[in-house]
Amino acid sequence: MTILGLESSCDETSVSILQDGKILSNLISSQHFHVKYGGVVPELSSRANLQMIAPLFKQALAEAQINKEDIDVIAATAGPGLIGALLVGLNFGKALAYSLNKPFVPVNHIEGHIYSGFLMDEKPEYPFLALAVSGGHTLLLLVEDEMNITKLGSTIDDAAGEAFDKVAKMIGLGYPGGPKVEEYSERGNPNAVKFPVAKLKTEYDFSFSGLKTSVLRYIQKEYQNTENIPDVNKTDIAASFQDAVVRALGKNVEKAIQNYEVKSLSLVGGVAANKAIRRKFSELAKKYDKKLVIPDIEFCGDNAAMIAYRGSKLFENNKVSDLAANAFAALPKDVFKVL
Ligand code: KG4
Ligand code: ZN
Repeated sequence: MTILGLESSCDETSVSILQDGKILSNLISSQHFHVKYGGVVPELSSRANLQMIAPLFKQALAEAQINKEDIDVIAATAGPGLIGALLVGLNFGKALAYSLNKPFVPVNHIEGHIYSGFLMDEKPEYPFLALAVSGGHTLLLLVEDEMNITKLGSTIDDAAGEAFDKVAKMIGLGYPGGPKVEEYSERGNPNAVKFPVAKLKTEYDFSFSGLKTSVLRYIQKEYQNTENIPDVNKTDIAASFQDAVVRALGKNVEKAIQNYEVKSLSLVGGVAANKAIRRKFSELAKKYDKKLVIPDIEFCGDNAAMIAYRGSKLFENNKVSDLAANAFAALPKDVFKVL
């Protein structure tokens, strides 16, 4: 089976072709121009997706050495994400499905991330725990099988990636902040400042807004403003903040490992690129004797290969759309609904 994946939920346009689980092409165009605005500008993101999607599709076909008629199924991200941006990939996919008379499968972006581990040679084994950490989401999920995904916890305020981006801004590292905070952390002392981990009543939820405020208060107290922070102290703040995030994520994941009988652990999403968080997962997997699957960096950030893979599984479960599929901005609050 040859499946086309389309991803345009935010600031990446991506087109991928998968054949029987093998990646024939996975092209990603990242919109670096948002840097000068300090964050993603939705309108510009939609326009850039619109400019890129057709050329990327042509290039993906050429790389995969197939014709568009060889595609069996078309899958596109339907949400969550920026509506204008999502509509680009969704509509492109629907139009293609209509013209080629092929089935169309809308895909939940988070399900795409959860299944990014399956693009690796060593795949997660069911049931598994997945921590999906990105710029918009922090979700701890129990994945029992392809169609049974239960949300154990999520962030009650900022997403982990969002906290990285905001703290990066506070210490003057620019956008996107995650990779920059990580780079600074590697040169800093994680024990320099003891930033707190939120204590919540619910067992598996996360909160990063208090941590973000602690970092801000610390900067205001010690340096008054960003310009006064010497570079060497920026590395300590970055390392101490990152350490608090690692502790916060690790704490809930460890509780879930103790309370649920799972075979594997999987860490996915843009923030899964972070080496300190990857190390924490390795430690937990070793301690509790679980199989660990973390996708290669190229599949941690937004990519269409994960959408194509998840699309193929949804197709096998008859989740084909009648072309009326709409885009959605957010996930339902309390449940994780498989599309
Ligand atoms: O999954 P993703 O590419 O897009 C969303 O769906 O949000 O995640 C992007 C997020 C950003 O907040 C970015 O700062 C963060 O992932 N990120 C990182 C790292 N690389 C990307 N956070 C921490 N450490 C990293 N190395
Ligand atoms: Zn994402």
